[in-house]
Amino acid sequence: MCGIMGYTGKSQASAVILQGLAKQEYRGYDSAGIALRCDGRIVNAKIVGRVAELARRVRDLPPECECAVSGIGHTRWATHGGVTETNAHPHESSDGMVVLVHNGIIENSRDIRSRLESEGVRFITETDTEASCQLLAKLYRERGGDAHSAMSRLTASLTGAFALVIMFLDRPDEIWCARRGSPLVAANDGGASYCASDPTALLDYTHDLFFLEEGEMALLKPLACKFFNFDGSPREKESVSLNWSNVMTDKGRHEHFMRKEIEEQPDVLRLTIDTHTVVTTVAMGRDFNLPRGIMKKIRRVQFVACGTSHYATLVARDMLESLDRELDTRVEVASEYRYRDVAGGDDTLAIFVSQSGETADTLAAARRARAAGTCCVAITNVRGSTIDREVPHTLLSLSGPEIGVAATKTFTGQISLLALLVMWLLKDRGTLSANDEARLIGGLRSLPTLLQEILSREDEIKALAEKYSSSRGFFFIGRRECVPLTMEGALKMKEIAYLPSEAYAAGEMKHGPIAMLDDKLTVVALVPDTDLREKTLSNVEECRARSAPILLFATEGDLDALDFANDVFFMPRTERELIPFIGVLPLQLFAYHTARCLGRDIDMPRNLAKSVTVE
Ligand code: AGP
Repeated sequence: MCGIMGYTGKSQASAVILQGLAKQEYRGYDSAGIALRCDGRIVNAKIVGRVAELARRVRDLPPECECAVSGIGHTRWATHGGVTETNAHPHESSDGMVVLVHNGIIENSRDIRSRLESEGVRFITETDTEASCQLLAKLYRERGGDAHSAMSRLTASLTGAFALVIMFLDRPDEIWCARRGSPLVAANDGGASYCASDPTALLDYTHDLFFLEEGEMALLKPLACKFFNFDGSPREKESVSLNWSNVMTDKGRHEHFMRKEIEEQPDVLRLTIDTHTVVTTVAMGRDFNLPRGIMKKIRRVQFVACGTSHYATLVARDMLESLDRELDTRVEVASEYRYRDVAGGDDTLAIFVSQSGETADTLAAARRARAAGTCCVAITNVRGSTIDREVPHTLLSLSGPEIGVAATKTFTGQISLLALLVMWLLKDRGTLSANDEARLIGGLRSLPTLLQEILSREDEIKALAEKYSSSRGFFFIGRRECVPLTMEGALKMKEIAYLPSEAYAAGEMKHGPIAMLDDKLTVVALVPDTDLREKTLSNVEECRARSAPILLFATEGDLDALDFANDVFFMPRTERELIPFIGVLPLQLFAYHTARCLGRDIDMPRNLAKSVTVE
């Protein structure tokens, strides 16, 4: 949600900034802009559309802009004010002294605006951001050009969430940053400093990154980055080394990042299992500092997340319940958990899952749980992210950077780590039998090969997607361990194919949704060979009797399934609890190829942002 890139050094600033913005396109945006310091003045270019269009606009700027060695850029995901060039960032103060980009929402922007307007300041945009820009210019003037003091006063005056990146006209080579609520990362490679919303934008230059903390400011100069508290006092800061390679953020031979990331899932599984198991025993890495014996006093476990991460926690709950039905286990959507009166305290373990580690609702939910004295664990894919820094016990999922907006490999990274964490917790509680541990770890170890086998049959799924892409919409149905899959399958279809898709526990169809069925609404039924096969097939029959085309995902060898459906895709057999690991892959491919047939913008679907950093 909004991408920021700042640069001050010796290279061509426009090239560095445009490249950084391109790397962050996946965050979701509708317009973009850049401000470059050229020959003592600041030159702006803004567009509605893609970064490639901004690059064309930059080529038309005065020739001296090619020599600019500092600047800031932004991709905007509109919140306040329409999608227009005027509303695109960077914003410039009326006196021309301040130019600024922002990610977040300034909640008191209306008050600031009316106060400044009554003092004669003329606003030209509809954005909340311009209020912070005009206010900073006033504070800078009032303080005789003391940037430190003006920044401190600005941060104290703003309410809401912000990552602000700023240039002052009369301070060459300097870029100022401030962070509260929205992510911002800075870096220095010896001759230049950078800042961005997302670490992937900086990996071409350095892997040593400074993640700004809540209430932190930074001053970037070509030779160093300095950090301060909002009150202006200096702050010592250690860099974090991110071991992601640049290749990981490259599309390589693939048409889309999403397709590349789907294919990487066997490797994600292998790495996760190898890292956290020894033969048939679970062994969470040394970095995981949840004290042994903690489960003796835990009475309830809460899983809290949003979107796909939430569906990953449903998989974990199913596994936990199937192994230990005594423990009170709940799954909560973070946007609700943060406002409900949920039980907490030192007999409660809350597990927060967020691939980005920056989702505003998940962060707020974690803060609430910590305030209640609940023992909190986070699972995230981004080292140094806010959740990693704020939650005392963190496990890093090993998915590598995910660029496609639709989560795929991070789901697999999460469910594999959650499965191992569940085993660790139950072992600590003394309720996991050695048999179950060995059975599940053995099952996990066989998964990469099984996923590879499904990938080798991608053409079958592609043909099914082509056949069903003219559907008016989809119903995804299944029972128990397949319910999270129905949700994830439907979400993928909605996100990237924009086709109406509902997810239902199969037994719920008769209670209302079946009224919608006709020959244009395809039912995707997940019917693995478990004790619930017959029951689910009965639900499938009921749908078939209402003329709905049926696409069935069944277990290999279950040839009778062919009698119940128009088409069947056979999935390899695995342990019951591990069925979601297998089932998600064909559903991802089905959504991917459907979206491809429909000509959708798969990696950057409309209206979506990769990480949802505002409430
Ligand atoms: C899934 O495809 C989406 N990108 C979305 O639902 C996502 O899972 C959700 O916004 C949560 O994000 P997080 O894991 O980064 O917290």
